[in-house]
Amino acid sequence: MCVCVCVCVCVCVCVCVCVCVCVCVCVGGLGQLGVGLAEMLRKQYGAENVILSDIKKPPPHVYSSGPFVYADVLDYKHLRELIINHQITWLVHYSALLSAVGEANVALARKINITGLHNVLDLALENCLRLFVPSTIGAFGPSSPRDPAPDLCVQRPRTIYGVSKVHGELMGEYLHHKYGLDFRCLRYPGVISVNTHPGGGTTDYAVQIFHDALSTGHHVCYLRPDTRLPMMHISDCHRATVEYMQAPECQLSLRTYNIDAMSFTPEEVAQEIRKHLPHLKVTYNPDSVRQTIADSWPVRFDDTNARRDWGWKPAFGLEELVSDMLKSVRDKRIIEGFPVS
Ligand SMILES: NC(=O)c1ccc[n+]([C@@H]2O[C@H](COP(=O)([O-])OP(=O)(O)OC[C@H]3O[C@@H](n4cnc5c(N)ncnc54)[C@H](O)[C@@H]3O)[C@@H](O)[C@H]2O)c1
Ligand SMILES: *[C@@H]1O[C@H](CO)[C@@H](O)[C@H](O)[C@H]1NC(C)=O
Repeated sequence: MCVCVCVCVCVCVCVCVCVCVCVCVCVGGLGQLGVGLAEMLRKQYGAENVILSDIKKPPPHVYSSGPFVYADVLDYKHLRELIINHQITWLVHYSALLSAVGEANVALARKINITGLHNVLDLALENCLRLFVPSTIGAFGPSSPRDPAPDLCVQRPRTIYGVSKVHGELMGEYLHHKYGLDFRCLRYPGVISVNTHPGGGTTDYAVQIFHDALSTGHHVCYLRPDTRLPMMHISDCHRATVEYMQAPECQLSLRTYNIDAMSFTPEEVAQEIRKHLPHLKVTYNPDSVRQTIADSWPVRFDDTNARRDWGWKPAFGLEELVSDMLKSVRDKRIIEGFPVS
């Protein structure tokens, strides 16, 4: 069943990714990251070759931009049917339960995060798929080196989120070494985009501050002003994912890479925003839960391996990020009929 897919992947490895028709499915694709990733992949491979899937109903523009199917990551047989019927060769696993929901229902979060991961790992192995699974800065903990955090070091996170991500990294790498699974994982920094959900996440302030700057002009930050964390513009995150997926296997010395773009503190991003909106006021009211988590995460990411092995290079620094976010948030507010300052 997987013979033709394997041949195709081998050709990709030796010659060039473009020679094969890569049919990709993105599960959990309607979240913050999936829609934009599908858009980038569709530009390169054709809309019909990238299938977006989720368990909720997509907005109309998603229906019209390419194939969408309902797929529950917990339904193993249905996922297999999807993979076989559409001759899928790549699988991107973005399914997750929102942290706010996850805290309220740990059993369900565990099921979706862990059983969902096991399902995609087994399916990828069974069908010779190239599998992408995201990890995070949250996969490090208080005993990890923080400035910078290298790819390989102590990982003892103290959040269930981090623990399940380390599990994903290790399971994928194990199946790669033992059975040759083409597992690929990136540790994303905090991803900054206009469409971030209010998930109670540790890096969410770095999105909220733009909305506040353009509406009330006042942001109340739940972290201390000097809390430095690695961050990335969403378009860099998508590009890193696509470029890493396209990299020939022989170039990869690791299966899980850190990717970095910039590191900033609330105070520094506020200062940069003030270059455009001088009236921005920020007050600090640290939340002990999120502050403790942030204090256990890397201050900076060491991504030298990604840069060397497959040529990773971010396009957005703090200055570019701030101008782009102010423009995008302003446009979004205008479209939605909200006042902007
Ligand atoms: N956004 C970030 O800043 C960031 C940073 C690091 C890592 N990540 C990781 O990237 C991945 C995607 O992140 P995101 O921000 O797009 O998440 P998200 O929560 O916005 O989206 C997850 C999607 O999964 C779907 N889903 C839930 N249960 C499902 C099920 N049973 N079957 C199929 N789909 C289901 C949801 O409907 C949702 O659309 C996650 O694993 C997350 O941990 C995100
Ligand atoms: C599941 O994943 C979400 C989002 O990636 C995370 O916020 C949550 O803490 C995770 N929960 C568990 C139990 O792994």
